[in-house]
Amino acid sequence: MRTQVGIIGAGPAGLTLSRLLHQNGIESVIVENRSRAYIEQRVRAGVLEQGSMDLFNSLGIGERMMREGMQHHGIELRFSETSHRIDFTQLTGKSIIIYGQQEMVKDLVAAHLQEARPLLFEASDVSLDRIDSPTPVINFQYQGQAQQLQCDYIAGCDGFHGISRQLMPAAQVYEHKFPFGWLGILAEVAPSSHELIYASHDRGFALHSMRSPKLVRNYLQCALDEDINNWSDDRIWNELQQRMALTDGFRLNEGRIIEKSVTSMRSFVVETMQHGNLFLAGDAAHIVPPTGAKGMNLALRDVVVLAKVLLDRYQSNNNSGLRQYSILCSRHVWKAQYFSVWMTSLLHRLDAQDDFQRKLQLTQLRAITESVAGSTAMAEGYVGL
Ligand code: APR
Ligand code: PHB
Repeated sequence: MRTQVGIIGAGPAGLTLSRLLHQNGIESVIVENRSRAYIEQRVRAGVLEQGSMDLFNSLGIGERMMREGMQHHGIELRFSETSHRIDFTQLTGKSIIIYGQQEMVKDLVAAHLQEARPLLFEASDVSLDRIDSPTPVINFQYQGQAQQLQCDYIAGCDGFHGISRQLMPAAQVYEHKFPFGWLGILAEVAPSSHELIYASHDRGFALHSMRSPKLVRNYLQCALDEDINNWSDDRIWNELQQRMALTDGFRLNEGRIIEKSVTSMRSFVVETMQHGNLFLAGDAAHIVPPTGAKGMNLALRDVVVLAKVLLDRYQSNNNSGLRQYSILCSRHVWKAQYFSVWMTSLLHRLDAQDDFQRKLQLTQLRAITESVAGSTAMAEGYVGL
C-alpha cells in the first residue's frame, strides 16, 4: 500500500486532518487500532469554539452539528452563592457550540466512509519505520495479514497513549500534574441552566454542562486517587447541590446517572512536534487540563497548520512551512495551555487547608466578574480569540 500522508489514529485530529487534505487533493490513509464502535462511543468534552464550528462547516460536515448542537453566548461563574454571567457575544462578538466530541467523530467517520476513503479500524501491532528517510512506513496487522503502508509523510494523531511520540529523539517534555481529579457523570435529565455553570466552592470545584435537552454532564473536583465505588448516586447529587447552591435556593435537576468516571488532570507539552517525516498533532503532542474544554479545539488548530504546510509542500514544492511546523504550533499550544491552567487555578480548591489562598482566589473571581477588562480577558480565552 502507498499513500501521500499516513495518519495514525482516528480521533478528531486524524479524521479532520484527513478531510482537510482530501479537500485539497492530497490523499491519506488512516490506521486506527480501536473499533469504529469504540471511538464513536467514547465520552469526551463537548465545547467547540466558534472557529472549530466554522472549520467543520467549511469541511461540509456541520449539518447535524448546526441542527443538534446548542449554541451558547456565555457561561456562568458561580462563587460565594452568587451567580455572574460572562457574556461572550457582547464582549467578543463570538459564541461557542455544545456538541459532544463523539458526535463530531461520528460525523467525520460517516463522511469519510461515504466517500470510500481508506480508514482502517482494528489495526494491531502498529509501528513506524524509516521516519528519517524520504519513504517512511507504517507497519501493522489488518484482518489477519501483515501490512506495510509506504508514505511521504506520517501524521502521529494517536493521542496521549499512542506510539508516535515515543519516536521523537530530541523531545523535551514540559509537564505539570494537578493534585486533584474530576469525577464526571452523564445523567438523563434536562439541563438546569441555558449555559454552562463553573462553580468555585470551598468544598471544591463543580461544573454543570450538557449534551442535549435531555442529557447533562456534570463534574466534581475530587481526590487524585478517588475510588469511584465510594460515590453513590446520592452522594454525587448531594455534593453537586452543595457546590452549586445559590442564596435563592437554586437546585440542580437530578436524574438517572448512566455513566461515572474519574479522570486525572495534567498539563503536558512535547517540543518539538516533528522528527524527520513524522509530525505529531493533538493529544499525541499535548494535554491541557479540561477546565475551559480546550483539548479538541487545540487538536484542530494543529491539524489546520499541518494541512496548510503539507499543501504548500505538494502544491508549490515549498518545504519551509513543514520544517517550521512545530514552531508554528507552539504559540497556539502554549496559549491554550496558559488559559486552561489559569481557569483551573482560578476555580479549584488548590489546598483545602489554605484559607489565605482561598481569599485571594475569591478576590480574583470578583475582580474578573466586576470589571469589563477582566471579563473580556476570560471571554477571549474561552472563545479562542
Ligand atoms: N495505532 C493506531 N491508533 C492508535 C494507536 C496506535 N498505536 N494508539 C492510539 N490510537 C488511536 C486511539 O484509539 C484514538 O482513536 O488514536 C486516536 C487518538 O484520538 P484522541 O485520543 O481522540 O486524540 P486527538 O485526535 O488528538 O483528539 C484530541 O481528544 O482526548 C481528547 O480532550 C481531547 O478533545 C481532545 C481530543
Ligand atoms: C463537557 O461538557 O464535558 C465539558 C464542558 C466544559 C469543560 C469541560 C468539559 O470545561
